[in-house]
Amino acid sequence: MNYRHAFHAGNFGDCVKHALLIWLIRALHRKPAPIAILDTHAGIGRYDLTTGPATRTGEASRGILRLMDDPPEALSDYVTLVRDLGLYPGSPAIARALLRPRDRLMCCELHPEDVVALKHLFAGDGQVAVHRRDAWEALGALLPPAERRGLVLIDPPFEAADEFDKLAAGLRLGHSRFSGGVFAAWYPIKHRAPVRAFHIAMRESGIRDIVVAELFLREPLDAARLNGAGLLVVNPPYRFEAQAAPILAALLERLGTREPGEGFVVERLADE
Ligand SMILES: C[S@@+](CC[C@H](N)C(=O)[O-])C[C@H]1O[C@@H](n2cnc3c(N)ncnc32)[C@H](O)[C@@H]1O
Repeated sequence: MNYRHAFHAGNFGDCVKHALLIWLIRALHRKPAPIAILDTHAGIGRYDLTTGPATRTGEASRGILRLMDDPPEALSDYVTLVRDLGLYPGSPAIARALLRPRDRLMCCELHPEDVVALKHLFAGDGQVAVHRRDAWEALGALLPPAERRGLVLIDPPFEAADEFDKLAAGLRLGHSRFSGGVFAAWYPIKHRAPVRAFHIAMRESGIRDIVVAELFLREPLDAARLNGAGLLVVNPPYRFEAQAAPILAALLERLGTREPGEGFVVERLADE
């Protein structure tokens, strides 16, 4: 467990994930019935971008910090939420900020220090449960939620060589338990081959209704660089494809590198 999200908080990958996550949660709120959110790889929930690990990598300065002033309309919801929450919010803090009184959030985190920080953040909060629990196991154990409506965010650190395989297996397991749930899985785009293999695995999984939203900073040719980021969504809410495109376009306009191959795609992998 070497990965610490504090070094990467607010980078362009977080911007893609969190801007789309907010849209997905708001879409689930179109109906009044309560929802449950499961955040399988939660991190510590809040990140100080002005000191420590974040300043050592400078990733946020090429990410969220470029969006804060006069954000484009498509990003104003995301940027307003970040501004309102103060420290940069990780996915659990974003989800928590959006919960309605009868909604629930479950978070899993395995890093021994990070899970303590997350428990501290949500101490005494009756709508949030923090588990020191393996994400892949939790997808079987914590699903389906009693509410039978909700969203599962799967955001692995991609430290291990087989993380795409685990992600595909986790999505299959989670979907087998909670077929009506919205699943959002984040993945890095370094070079094309592993992403293609992941898409093929998902197309062949038998799971219906899958869309991917991907942002490229440049042609994904260098396996040692984070050249793009993607979010795969199972059971995307109505109008996800139409609404994800302007969000990615606005991100690209502010975060783009102007290198060959930059761009975005919103693509359907499996029909409804
Ligand atoms: C990319 S970070 C999560 C960031 C967070 N989702 C956000 O958007 O703010 C991945 C996290 O997963 C944790 N982790 C790694 N393997 C895990 C596992 N098998 N189960 C649960 N958490 C795990 C890491 O400690 C790390 O904090």
